[in-house]
Amino acid sequence: MSRKYAIETFGCQMNVHDSERLAGLLEQAGYEAAADPGEADLVVVNTCSVRGRAEDKLYSRLGELRALGDGRETRPTIAVTGCVAQQEGARLLVRAPHVGVVVGTRAKRRLAELVAQAESSGRPQIDTDPHDDISFPLGVVRRGDLVRASVTISEGCSDACTYCVVPHTRGPVRMRPAAEILAEVSEAVAGGRREILLLGQIVNHYRAPDRPGCGFADLLALVNEVPGVERIRFASPHPRHVSDRLVEAMRDLAHVCKHLHLPVQSGSTRILATMRRRHTREEYLDVVARVRAALPTVAVSTDMIVGFPGETDRDFADTLSLTEAAGFSSMFSFKYSKRPKTFAINYLQDDVPEHVKAERLRELQQVQRGIQLRLHQQLVGTAVPVLIDSLSRRRPSDVSGRTTGNTVVNAPGDPSWLGRVVNVRILRAGPYSLWGEAEESGLDRQRAHA
Ligand code: 5AD
Ligand code: SF4
Repeated sequence: MSRKYAIETFGCQMNVHDSERLAGLLEQAGYEAAADPGEADLVVVNTCSVRGRAEDKLYSRLGELRALGDGRETRPTIAVTGCVAQQEGARLLVRAPHVGVVVGTRAKRRLAELVAQAESSGRPQIDTDPHDDISFPLGVVRRGDLVRASVTISEGCSDACTYCVVPHTRGPVRMRPAAEILAEVSEAVAGGRREILLLGQIVNHYRAPDRPGCGFADLLALVNEVPGVERIRFASPHPRHVSDRLVEAMRDLAHVCKHLHLPVQSGSTRILATMRRRHTREEYLDVVARVRAALPTVAVSTDMIVGFPGETDRDFADTLSLTEAAGFSSMFSFKYSKRPKTFAINYLQDDVPEHVKAERLRELQQVQRGIQLRLHQQLVGTAVPVLIDSLSRRRPSDVSGRTTGNTVVNAPGDPSWLGRVVNVRILRAGPYSLWGEAEESGLDRQRAHA
Protein backbone atom coordinates (compact mmCIF):
# COMPACT_ATOMS: atom_id res chain seq x y z
CA MET A 1 0.00 0.00 0.00
CA SER A 2 1.36 3.43 -0.87
CA ARG A 3 2.12 5.95 1.79
CA LYS A 4 -0.32 8.79 2.40
CA TYR A 5 0.32 12.50 2.78
CA ALA A 6 -1.68 15.50 3.96
CA ILE A 7 -0.71 19.15 3.45
CA GLU A 8 -1.98 22.05 5.54
CA THR A 9 -1.39 25.55 4.22
CA PHE A 10 -1.16 28.91 5.92
CA GLY A 11 -0.67 32.27 4.20
CA CYS A 12 -0.83 33.79 0.77
CA GLN A 13 -1.71 32.60 -2.73
CA MET A 14 1.95 31.91 -3.37
CA ASN A 15 1.96 29.50 -0.46
CA VAL A 16 -1.26 27.82 -1.59
CA HIS A 17 0.39 27.29 -4.95
CA ASP A 18 3.62 26.01 -3.36
CA SER A 19 1.46 23.40 -1.62
CA GLU A 20 0.10 22.33 -5.02
CA ARG A 21 3.69 21.88 -6.15
CA LEU A 22 4.63 19.97 -2.99
CA ALA A 23 1.62 17.68 -3.48
CA GLY A 24 2.74 16.97 -7.04
CA LEU A 25 6.31 16.26 -5.94
CA LEU A 26 5.12 13.85 -3.24
CA GLU A 27 2.86 12.03 -5.71
CA GLN A 28 5.77 11.73 -8.08
CA ALA A 29 7.68 10.09 -5.21
CA GLY A 30 4.87 7.53 -4.79
CA TYR A 31 2.71 9.13 -2.10
CA GLU A 32 -1.09 9.29 -2.26
CA ALA A 33 -3.31 12.04 -0.85
CA ALA A 34 -4.90 11.11 2.50
CA ALA A 35 -8.57 11.88 2.98
CA ASP A 36 -7.79 13.20 6.44
CA PRO A 37 -4.56 14.10 8.33
CA GLY A 38 -5.51 11.38 10.86
CA GLU A 39 -4.69 8.69 8.31
CA ALA A 40 -1.58 10.31 6.83
CA ASP A 41 1.93 8.87 7.18
CA LEU A 42 3.31 12.31 6.39
CA VAL A 43 1.78 15.63 7.43
CA VAL A 44 3.29 18.72 5.79
CA VAL A 45 2.57 22.11 7.31
CA ASN A 46 3.34 24.85 4.79
CA THR A 47 3.80 27.96 6.87
CA CYS A 48 3.52 31.76 6.71
CA SER A 49 5.38 34.28 8.81
CA VAL A 50 4.05 37.54 7.41
CA ARG A 51 2.45 38.41 10.74
CA GLY A 52 3.11 37.09 14.24
CA ARG A 53 -0.35 35.57 14.51
CA ALA A 54 0.20 33.25 11.57
CA GLU A 55 3.32 31.99 13.30
CA ASP A 56 1.52 31.46 16.62
CA LYS A 57 -1.17 29.45 14.84
CA LEU A 58 1.54 27.20 13.46
CA TYR A 59 2.84 26.23 16.89
CA SER A 60 -0.63 25.48 18.20
CA ARG A 61 -1.35 23.35 15.13
CA LEU A 62 1.96 21.49 15.60
CA GLY A 63 0.84 20.70 19.17
CA GLU A 64 -2.41 19.24 17.84
CA LEU A 65 -0.54 17.21 15.27
CA ARG A 66 1.62 15.63 17.95
CA ALA A 67 -1.56 14.34 19.61
CA LEU A 68 -2.68 12.92 16.25
CA GLY A 69 -0.07 10.16 16.53
CA ASP A 70 -1.20 9.02 20.00
CA GLY A 71 -2.36 5.42 19.97
CA ARG A 72 -1.11 4.74 16.43
CA GLU A 73 1.44 2.06 15.69
CA THR A 74 3.75 4.49 13.94
CA ARG A 75 3.52 8.21 14.36
CA PRO A 76 3.21 10.26 11.18
CA THR A 77 6.29 12.22 10.10
CA ILE A 78 5.70 15.95 10.49
CA ALA A 79 7.40 18.23 7.96
CA VAL A 80 7.39 22.02 8.21
CA THR A 81 7.90 23.93 4.97
CA GLY A 82 7.59 27.53 3.79
CA CYS A 83 8.38 30.88 5.32
CA VAL A 84 8.58 29.96 9.04
CA ALA A 85 10.73 26.95 8.15
CA GLN A 86 13.08 29.24 6.22
CA GLN A 87 13.15 31.83 8.99
CA GLU A 88 13.55 29.49 11.96
CA GLY A 89 15.45 26.48 10.55
CA ALA A 90 16.75 24.31 13.41
CA ARG A 91 15.25 26.66 16.04
CA LEU A 92 11.85 25.25 15.12
CA LEU A 93 12.85 21.95 16.72
CA VAL A 94 13.36 23.66 20.09
CA ARG A 95 9.67 24.62 20.29
CA ALA A 96 8.42 21.57 18.38
CA PRO A 97 10.84 18.65 18.89
CA HIS A 98 8.45 16.19 17.22
CA VAL A 99 9.02 17.84 13.82
CA GLY A 100 11.01 15.48 11.60
CA VAL A 101 11.78 17.65 8.57
CA VAL A 102 12.27 21.39 8.04
CA VAL A 103 12.31 22.52 4.40
CA GLY A 104 12.88 26.18 3.53
CA THR A 105 11.22 28.12 0.73
CA ARG A 106 13.97 27.29 -1.76
CA ALA A 107 14.41 23.58 -1.03
CA LYS A 108 10.89 22.34 -1.82
CA ARG A 109 12.13 19.80 -4.31
CA ARG A 110 14.06 17.92 -1.63
CA LEU A 111 11.00 17.24 0.56
CA ALA A 112 10.44 13.54 -0.26
CA GLU A 113 14.15 12.78 -0.05
CA LEU A 114 14.50 14.48 3.35
CA VAL A 115 11.43 12.68 4.68
CA ALA A 116 12.98 9.34 3.68
CA GLN A 117 16.27 10.30 5.34
CA ALA A 118 14.54 11.41 8.55
CA GLU A 119 12.58 8.17 8.72
CA SER A 120 15.54 5.89 8.07
CA SER A 121 17.97 7.72 10.34
CA GLY A 122 15.52 8.71 13.09
CA ARG A 123 17.15 12.15 13.04
CA PRO A 124 15.53 15.42 11.99
CA GLN A 125 16.54 16.72 8.55
CA ILE A 126 16.81 20.42 7.79
CA ASP A 127 17.45 22.26 4.53
CA THR A 128 17.14 26.02 4.39
CA ASP A 129 19.82 26.55 1.74
CA PRO A 130 19.05 28.80 -1.22
CA HIS A 131 18.76 26.23 -4.02
CA ASP A 132 18.22 27.38 -7.59
CA ASP A 133 14.45 27.03 -7.74
CA ILE A 134 12.91 29.34 -10.31
CA SER A 135 12.32 26.65 -12.93
CA PHE A 136 9.75 24.03 -12.08
CA PRO A 137 9.10 20.96 -14.23
CA LEU A 138 5.86 20.80 -16.20
CA GLY A 139 3.24 18.22 -15.36
CA VAL A 140 4.10 17.89 -11.67
CA VAL A 141 1.85 20.41 -9.94
CA ARG A 142 -1.34 18.92 -8.52
CA ARG A 143 -3.92 21.69 -8.84
CA GLY A 144 -6.55 21.99 -6.12
CA ASP A 145 -8.87 24.30 -8.08
CA LEU A 146 -10.88 23.13 -11.08
CA VAL A 147 -11.31 26.54 -12.67
CA ARG A 148 -8.40 28.77 -11.68
CA ALA A 149 -4.69 27.94 -12.10
CA SER A 150 -1.90 29.80 -10.35
CA VAL A 151 1.27 30.19 -12.39
CA THR A 152 4.43 31.56 -10.77
CA ILE A 153 6.22 34.23 -12.81
CA SER A 154 8.77 35.33 -10.21
CA GLU A 155 9.85 34.36 -6.72
CA GLY A 156 11.35 36.38 -3.91
CA CYS A 157 11.58 40.12 -3.47
CA SER A 158 14.46 42.58 -3.60
CA ASP A 159 12.54 45.56 -2.24
CA ALA A 160 13.04 46.55 1.36
CA CYS A 161 9.71 47.63 2.85
CA THR A 162 10.64 48.06 6.50
CA TYR A 163 7.81 45.93 7.95
CA CYS A 164 8.15 42.95 5.61
CA VAL A 165 9.78 39.59 6.32
CA VAL A 166 9.38 38.30 2.75
CA PRO A 167 12.77 39.37 1.33
CA HIS A 168 14.27 37.39 4.20
CA THR A 169 12.02 34.31 3.91
CA ARG A 170 11.83 34.10 0.13
CA GLY A 171 15.17 35.61 -0.87
CA PRO A 172 16.01 38.07 -3.64
CA VAL A 173 13.83 38.21 -6.74
CA ARG A 174 14.28 35.55 -9.43
CA MET A 175 12.37 35.73 -12.74
CA ARG A 176 11.01 32.64 -14.44
CA PRO A 177 11.61 32.25 -18.20
CA ALA A 178 8.59 33.36 -20.26
CA ALA A 179 8.71 30.15 -22.30
CA GLU A 180 8.20 28.12 -19.14
CA ILE A 181 5.36 30.35 -17.95
CA LEU A 182 3.58 30.02 -21.31
CA ALA A 183 4.07 26.25 -21.36
CA GLU A 184 2.51 26.00 -17.91
CA VAL A 185 -0.41 28.23 -18.94
CA SER A 186 -1.07 25.97 -21.95
CA GLU A 187 -0.86 22.92 -19.75
CA ALA A 188 -3.32 24.41 -17.23
CA VAL A 189 -5.78 25.20 -20.04
CA ALA A 190 -5.40 21.70 -21.47
CA GLY A 191 -6.29 20.44 -17.99
CA GLY A 192 -9.57 22.40 -18.08
CA ARG A 193 -8.59 25.61 -16.25
CA ARG A 194 -10.17 28.81 -17.55
CA GLU A 195 -8.60 31.47 -15.35
CA ILE A 196 -4.86 32.06 -14.96
CA LEU A 197 -3.52 33.81 -11.87
CA LEU A 198 0.03 35.06 -12.47
CA LEU A 199 1.92 35.13 -9.19
CA GLY A 200 4.94 37.00 -7.91
CA GLN A 201 5.87 39.28 -5.01
CA ILE A 202 6.02 42.27 -7.39
CA VAL A 203 4.55 40.94 -10.62
CA ASN A 204 4.77 44.12 -12.64
CA HIS A 205 8.51 44.25 -12.18
CA TYR A 206 8.75 41.13 -14.36
CA ARG A 207 11.52 40.94 -16.97
CA ALA A 208 11.77 37.75 -18.99
CA PRO A 209 15.27 36.27 -18.67
CA ASP A 210 14.80 34.42 -21.97
CA ARG A 211 13.28 37.25 -24.07
CA PRO A 212 15.15 40.54 -24.18
CA GLY A 213 12.77 43.49 -23.79
CA CYS A 214 9.81 41.38 -22.59
CA GLY A 215 8.33 43.03 -19.50
CA PHE A 216 5.12 42.38 -17.59
CA ALA A 217 2.78 44.06 -20.09
CA ASP A 218 4.34 41.94 -22.87
CA LEU A 219 3.92 38.81 -20.79
CA LEU A 220 0.21 39.65 -20.34
CA ALA A 221 -0.11 39.98 -24.12
CA LEU A 222 1.53 36.58 -24.62
CA VAL A 223 -0.71 34.86 -22.05
CA ASN A 224 -3.72 36.59 -23.61
CA GLU A 225 -2.93 34.80 -26.87
CA VAL A 226 -2.88 31.30 -25.39
CA PRO A 227 -5.98 29.55 -26.83
CA GLY A 228 -8.54 28.65 -24.18
CA VAL A 229 -7.52 31.25 -21.58
CA GLU A 230 -10.76 32.95 -20.53
CA ARG A 231 -9.48 35.22 -17.78
CA ILE A 232 -6.12 36.49 -16.56
CA ARG A 233 -5.45 37.92 -13.10
CA PHE A 234 -2.21 38.83 -11.38
CA ALA A 235 -1.03 39.40 -7.82
CA SER A 236 0.47 41.63 -6.66
CA PRO A 237 1.72 44.66 -8.57
CA HIS A 238 3.58 47.57 -6.96
CA PRO A 239 2.29 51.14 -7.50
CA ARG A 240 5.71 52.30 -8.70
CA HIS A 241 5.67 50.01 -11.71
CA VAL A 242 2.18 50.68 -13.08
CA SER A 243 3.43 51.87 -16.46
CA ASP A 244 1.27 53.31 -19.24
CA ARG A 245 1.98 50.12 -21.14
CA LEU A 246 0.51 48.04 -18.31
CA VAL A 247 -2.60 50.24 -18.18
CA GLU A 248 -3.00 49.94 -21.95
CA ALA A 249 -2.55 46.17 -21.75
CA MET A 250 -5.28 45.98 -19.12
CA ARG A 251 -7.53 48.09 -21.31
CA ASP A 252 -6.87 46.36 -24.60
CA LEU A 253 -6.33 42.67 -23.84
CA ALA A 254 -9.68 40.91 -23.92
CA HIS A 255 -8.92 38.28 -21.32
CA VAL A 256 -7.22 40.43 -18.69
CA CYS A 257 -9.65 41.08 -15.82
CA LYS A 258 -10.61 44.65 -15.11
CA HIS A 259 -9.26 44.39 -11.61
CA LEU A 260 -6.11 45.80 -10.09
CA HIS A 261 -5.09 44.63 -6.64
CA LEU A 262 -2.65 47.39 -5.78
CA PRO A 263 -1.30 47.31 -2.21
CA VAL A 264 -0.90 50.79 -0.72
CA GLN A 265 -0.25 49.95 3.00
CA SER A 266 -0.99 53.46 4.34
CA GLY A 267 -2.65 56.71 3.29
CA SER A 268 -0.03 58.88 5.01
CA THR A 269 3.00 59.99 3.01
CA ARG A 270 4.97 60.29 6.26
CA ILE A 271 4.25 56.66 7.21
CA LEU A 272 4.82 55.47 3.63
CA ALA A 273 8.29 57.01 3.88
CA THR A 274 9.14 55.15 7.11
CA MET A 275 7.71 52.00 5.52
CA ARG A 276 10.12 52.67 2.61
CA ARG A 277 7.36 52.08 0.10
CA ARG A 278 8.93 54.53 -2.37
CA HIS A 279 5.62 56.18 -3.27
CA THR A 280 3.63 58.99 -1.71
CA ARG A 281 -0.09 59.19 -1.06
CA GLU A 282 -0.45 61.56 -4.03
CA GLU A 283 1.52 59.31 -6.36
CA TYR A 284 -0.66 56.36 -5.41
CA LEU A 285 -3.87 58.32 -6.03
CA ASP A 286 -2.44 59.50 -9.36
CA VAL A 287 -1.86 55.89 -10.41
CA VAL A 288 -5.45 55.04 -9.49
CA ALA A 289 -6.72 58.08 -11.43
CA ARG A 290 -4.64 57.09 -14.46
CA VAL A 291 -6.00 53.55 -14.40
CA ARG A 292 -9.58 54.76 -13.99
CA ALA A 293 -9.21 57.26 -16.83
CA ALA A 294 -8.31 54.41 -19.19
CA LEU A 295 -10.67 51.85 -17.65
CA PRO A 296 -13.66 53.58 -16.05
CA THR A 297 -15.16 50.34 -14.70
CA VAL A 298 -11.95 48.93 -13.20
CA ALA A 299 -12.09 47.56 -9.65
CA VAL A 300 -9.13 48.59 -7.51
CA SER A 301 -8.45 46.71 -4.28
CA THR A 302 -5.62 46.99 -1.79
CA ASP A 303 -3.73 45.88 1.31
CA MET A 304 -3.50 48.23 4.31
CA ILE A 305 -1.58 48.18 7.58
CA VAL A 306 -2.75 50.14 10.65
CA GLY A 307 -0.69 50.94 13.73
CA PHE A 308 2.70 51.07 12.02
CA PRO A 309 5.40 52.59 14.32
CA GLY A 310 4.83 56.32 14.70
CA GLU A 311 1.31 56.30 13.20
CA THR A 312 -0.62 59.21 14.75
CA ASP A 313 -4.35 59.91 14.66
CA ARG A 314 -3.58 62.29 11.79
CA ASP A 315 -1.75 59.64 9.81
CA PHE A 316 -4.63 57.27 10.37
CA ALA A 317 -7.10 59.95 9.23
CA ASP A 318 -5.05 60.07 6.00
CA THR A 319 -5.51 56.31 5.64
CA LEU A 320 -9.28 56.71 6.01
CA SER A 321 -9.43 59.58 3.52
CA LEU A 322 -7.31 57.74 0.97
CA THR A 323 -9.61 54.75 1.36
CA GLU A 324 -12.60 56.95 0.51
CA ALA A 325 -10.78 58.73 -2.31
CA ALA A 326 -9.62 55.52 -3.98
CA GLY A 327 -13.02 53.80 -3.61
CA PHE A 328 -11.50 50.37 -3.11
CA SER A 329 -13.56 47.39 -4.25
CA SER A 330 -12.06 45.34 -1.40
CA MET A 331 -9.26 45.52 1.10
CA PHE A 332 -7.12 43.19 3.16
CA SER A 333 -6.33 45.14 6.32
CA PHE A 334 -3.96 44.22 9.12
CA LYS A 335 -2.62 45.45 12.43
CA TYR A 336 1.12 46.04 12.20
CA SER A 337 3.05 43.09 13.56
CA LYS A 338 6.78 43.11 14.36
CA ARG A 339 8.69 40.66 12.21
CA PRO A 340 12.19 39.27 12.68
CA LYS A 341 15.07 40.59 10.56
CA THR A 342 13.10 43.62 9.37
CA PHE A 343 14.30 47.22 9.58
CA ALA A 344 11.23 48.13 11.62
CA ILE A 345 11.84 45.64 14.42
CA ASN A 346 15.44 46.79 14.73
CA TYR A 347 15.10 50.53 14.37
CA LEU A 348 11.49 51.62 14.94
CA GLN A 349 9.53 51.43 18.13
CA ASP A 350 6.24 49.49 17.99
CA ASP A 351 4.64 52.39 19.86
CA VAL A 352 0.97 52.23 18.87
CA PRO A 353 -0.83 50.45 21.74
CA GLU A 354 -2.64 47.24 20.85
CA HIS A 355 -6.07 48.67 21.72
CA VAL A 356 -5.45 51.63 19.39
CA LYS A 357 -4.42 49.28 16.58
CA ALA A 358 -7.58 47.24 17.17
CA GLU A 359 -9.79 50.34 17.19
CA ARG A 360 -8.20 51.71 13.99
CA LEU A 361 -8.61 48.38 12.25
CA ARG A 362 -12.28 48.25 13.26
CA GLU A 363 -12.90 51.78 12.03
CA LEU A 364 -11.08 51.19 8.74
CA GLN A 365 -12.99 47.99 8.09
CA GLN A 366 -16.26 49.76 8.81
CA VAL A 367 -15.47 52.53 6.31
CA GLN A 368 -14.39 49.96 3.74
CA ARG A 369 -17.55 47.89 4.27
CA GLY A 370 -19.63 51.01 3.52
CA ILE A 371 -17.72 51.65 0.28
CA GLN A 372 -18.16 48.06 -0.86
CA LEU A 373 -21.86 48.11 -0.13
CA ARG A 374 -22.24 51.32 -2.15
CA LEU A 375 -20.29 49.91 -5.10
CA HIS A 376 -22.21 46.65 -5.00
CA GLN A 377 -25.60 48.37 -4.82
CA GLN A 378 -24.79 50.17 -8.07
CA LEU A 379 -24.74 46.77 -9.76
CA VAL A 380 -28.28 45.82 -8.74
CA GLY A 381 -30.45 45.56 -11.85
CA THR A 382 -27.49 45.14 -14.22
CA ALA A 383 -26.32 41.90 -15.85
CA VAL A 384 -22.68 40.97 -15.28
CA PRO A 385 -20.55 38.15 -16.73
CA VAL A 386 -19.58 35.73 -13.97
CA LEU A 387 -17.06 32.91 -14.29
CA ILE A 388 -18.63 30.11 -12.24
CA ASP A 389 -15.92 28.61 -10.03
CA SER A 390 -17.67 26.68 -7.26
CA LEU A 391 -20.84 25.11 -5.99
CA SER A 392 -22.41 26.59 -2.89
CA ARG A 393 -21.75 24.54 0.21
CA ARG A 394 -24.76 25.89 2.04
CA ARG A 395 -27.24 25.63 -0.82
CA PRO A 396 -26.48 22.77 -3.20
CA SER A 397 -28.73 24.28 -5.86
CA ASP A 398 -26.60 27.48 -5.97
CA VAL A 399 -23.40 28.17 -7.82
CA SER A 400 -20.93 30.91 -7.20
CA GLY A 401 -18.34 32.77 -9.22
CA ARG A 402 -16.64 36.10 -9.70
CA THR A 403 -17.10 39.18 -11.82
CA THR A 404 -14.16 40.51 -13.80
CA GLY A 405 -13.71 42.93 -10.87
CA ASN A 406 -13.37 39.91 -8.53
CA THR A 407 -16.67 40.31 -6.64
CA VAL A 408 -18.32 37.06 -5.56
CA VAL A 409 -21.74 36.44 -7.13
CA ASN A 410 -24.14 33.68 -6.04
CA ALA A 411 -27.02 32.42 -8.15
CA PRO A 412 -29.24 29.37 -8.50
CA GLY A 413 -27.57 27.17 -11.10
CA ASP A 414 -26.29 23.82 -12.13
CA PRO A 415 -23.00 22.00 -11.42
CA SER A 416 -22.46 21.74 -15.19
CA TRP A 417 -21.89 25.52 -15.25
CA LEU A 418 -18.55 25.14 -13.47
CA GLY A 419 -15.89 26.87 -15.59
CA ARG A 420 -18.40 28.75 -17.75
CA VAL A 421 -19.02 32.46 -18.01
CA VAL A 422 -22.68 33.12 -17.31
CA ASN A 423 -24.51 36.46 -17.44
CA VAL A 424 -26.11 37.06 -14.06
CA ARG A 425 -28.71 39.73 -13.42
CA ILE A 426 -27.94 41.13 -9.97
CA LEU A 427 -30.95 41.20 -7.64
CA ARG A 428 -29.43 41.83 -4.22
CA ALA A 429 -26.16 43.27 -2.89
CA GLY A 430 -24.31 42.88 0.39
CA PRO A 431 -20.91 44.30 1.38
CA TYR A 432 -19.06 41.08 0.57
CA SER A 433 -21.04 39.48 -2.25
CA LEU A 434 -23.90 39.73 -4.71
CA TRP A 435 -26.91 37.54 -5.44
CA GLY A 436 -28.66 37.21 -8.76
CA GLU A 437 -30.23 35.07 -11.43
CA ALA A 438 -28.60 33.68 -14.56
CA GLU A 439 -29.95 35.14 -17.78
CA GLU A 440 -31.07 32.56 -20.33
CA SER A 441 -29.37 34.45 -23.15
CA GLY A 442 -26.03 34.17 -21.37
CA LEU A 443 -26.52 30.44 -20.96
CA ASP A 444 -27.54 29.93 -24.56
CA ARG A 445 -24.46 31.76 -25.73
CA GLN A 446 -22.33 29.42 -23.64
CA ARG A 447 -24.08 26.35 -25.00
CA ALA A 448 -23.61 27.56 -28.56
CA HIS A 449 -19.87 27.83 -27.84
CA ALA A 450 -19.65 24.44 -26.17
N1 5AD B 1 2.48 43.53 9.82
C1 5AD B 1 1.22 43.61 9.32
N2 5AD B 1 0.91 43.37 8.04
C2 5AD B 1 1.90 43.02 7.21
N3 5AD B 1 1.90 42.72 5.90
C3 5AD B 1 3.17 42.42 5.54
N4 5AD B 1 3.99 42.52 6.59
C4 5AD B 1 3.23 42.91 7.65
C5 5AD B 1 3.50 43.17 9.02
N5 5AD B 1 4.75 43.11 9.52
C6 5AD B 1 0.71 42.78 5.05
C7 5AD B 1 0.89 43.79 3.92
C8 5AD B 1 1.08 42.89 2.73
C9 5AD B 1 0.24 41.71 3.08
C10 5AD B 1 0.55 40.47 2.32
O1 5AD B 1 0.50 41.52 4.46
O2 5AD B 1 -0.31 44.53 3.82
O3 5AD B 1 0.69 43.52 1.52
FE1 SF4 C 1 3.29 34.36 1.62
FE2 SF4 C 1 4.59 36.29 2.87
FE3 SF4 C 1 3.26 34.47 4.26
FE4 SF4 C 1 5.52 33.85 2.99
S1 SF4 C 1 5.30 35.27 4.69
S2 SF4 C 1 3.60 32.67 2.99
S3 SF4 C 1 5.36 35.11 1.18
S4 SF4 C 1 2.38 35.98 2.91
